[in-house]
Amino acid sequence: MDATQLKRQAAERAVEFIESGMIVGLGHGTTAIWATRRLADLIQVGQIKNILAVPCSKETEAEAEKLGIPLTTLEAHPHIDLTIDGADEVAPNFDVIKGGGGALLREKIVAQASKREIIIVDDSKLSSALGTNWAIPVEVIPFGYGSQQAFLEELGAVVTVRKKNDGTTFYTDQGNIILDSKFGPLADAAGLAEQLKQRTGIVEHGLFIKLVSDVIVAASSGTRQLHKQS
Ligand code: A5P
Repeated sequence: MDATQLKRQAAERAVEFIESGMIVGLGHGTTAIWATRRLADLIQVGQIKNILAVPCSKETEAEAEKLGIPLTTLEAHPHIDLTIDGADEVAPNFDVIKGGGGALLREKIVAQASKREIIIVDDSKLSSALGTNWAIPVEVIPFGYGSQQAFLEELGAVVTVRKKNDGTTFYTDQGNIILDSKFGPLADAAGLAEQLKQRTGIVEHGLFIKLVSDVIVAASSGTRQLHKQS
């Protein structure tokens, strides 16, 4: 089974947890998009009714609108029942790195408003320590970003300004820049998250600490759901 099939399998399993009447968070990325598509199909055949969705990015919003999923906002509905989203790296304690697709700020706002955050991944995303395979995306405002880059380098990261495929600077949905900060395996991801949070000019970072309740992992050998014991 290839990666796309695994992503789709994880996404479709997660959608089984959506019930009629729920407020649902729709994540961003090549895995989460399969959940949006599956949800749209189930609405269309009448299997799921009266849901309202909060998209985590402009791209997801456009796709959901195109597929006829009714949308809402956190102003109208500040509490979300269930969010389904992807991740770049998943630690054994369910802390994750997100932001490979650049939507980490909205994703974290939606995650913190969610009673349940289900992360869907293929098994290549599992890691014994966050930072092993992925840089931490750090969203900064464009003004003075060189000073944030220097700060991240002083903390030990190798930093690159995220670019699009055409070589121009990537801007987030909020018009900010992403500094991809490669720290290597983190002994204390929560501690780093705290340090990053305190820095003026850093808007948000891709370390999602204690925000995830479930992880659905698709592998060639089958799909499994891990639920966090609280
Ligand atoms: C988007 O900003 C991200 O957090 C994605 O959820 C994450 O990068 C996983 O993306 P894929 O599902 O495309 O691998």
